[in-house]
Amino acid sequence: MRTWRIASRSSLGLRLCGAVVTVCEREAGLVLVGLQALPPQQELPVRDDLQHVALSGHQELEALERLLAPRRDLAGERVLVTSGPTREPIDPVRYISNRSSGKMGQAVATAALRRGAEVILISGPTTLTPPAGAVYVPVQTAEDMREAALQHLERATIVIKAAAVADYRVKQPSATKIKSRKDEGLTLDLAPNPDILKELAARKGRAFLVGFAAETNDVRANAAAKLRAKGVDLLVANDVSVKGIGFDAEDNQVTLLDRWGGAIDLPKMSKLEVADAILDRVVGLRAADRSPASNRAAH
Ligand code: CTP
Repeated sequence: MRTWRIASRSSLGLRLCGAVVTVCEREAGLVLVGLQALPPQQELPVRDDLQHVALSGHQELEALERLLAPRRDLAGERVLVTSGPTREPIDPVRYISNRSSGKMGQAVATAALRRGAEVILISGPTTLTPPAGAVYVPVQTAEDMREAALQHLERATIVIKAAAVADYRVKQPSATKIKSRKDEGLTLDLAPNPDILKELAARKGRAFLVGFAAETNDVRANAAAKLRAKGVDLLVANDVSVKGIGFDAEDNQVTLLDRWGGAIDLPKMSKLEVADAILDRVVGLRAADRSPASNRAAH
């Protein structure tokens, strides 16, 4: 962890002059941990734990610029993000769920907010604090998530479905706690949940739709099939069997497949960086789609 005070007249501009920035250095680059902006005239008390560094190193400066003064290329957009797991009740104390932490969806919401978008974050149960500025819609079950997503779909210009929706729910959850009868075992009668992404694809109008694919094998082939089956514009595929990326990890490594045949393998990065790369791709694909002379060949 390093704390910097931004020296006067750095290329970050006067707005950030004197700000105190705390960053954490990770393999994939710098991650912003804290930013305390001080009014221009205010003197900083001398503190031993603060490195008063004029940011001279080019790479450091660029990384900080990206963190502190991001593009506002999503101003005017309304981004609907679904995130986290869903929880399907078995009885009042038990449920069916999955390992999703909600970090990827939350990173997408955070990145979109920084880039100027209005963000609606529909999230299943997580331990995360929603990013300030997002309209936060907490949900429990897939059915709740479906309802909330459909309700907000009409106003969305970009929809990003990062949630790990439980594919099945218990047909008739018990109203009272199921008593254990160990000698008998227990069979749960499950019913399939609605495929929210498919439904959104059918009703999305002009919104740009991004889906995720959690795969454990034949990632590229399974993801390509999912892209077609779900009818999305862009699919973010990740191999959730690899330790250190995907479910409940800080980092992710994904492939971006689009419906025009493009495929981009991204390196392992923090989830925030992956989120920005996804948004970059959305912006790029939409711009290309609008251009009459566009060549949508794979690259
Ligand atoms: N999804 C959804 N509703 C479901 C299941 C999945 O909206 N009932 C969405 C997820 O939010 C994700 C995408 O579909 O954007 C792919 O989810 P994934 O779990 O990878 O695939 P499934 O559709 O569940 O297919 P399978 O489990 O067979 O891989």
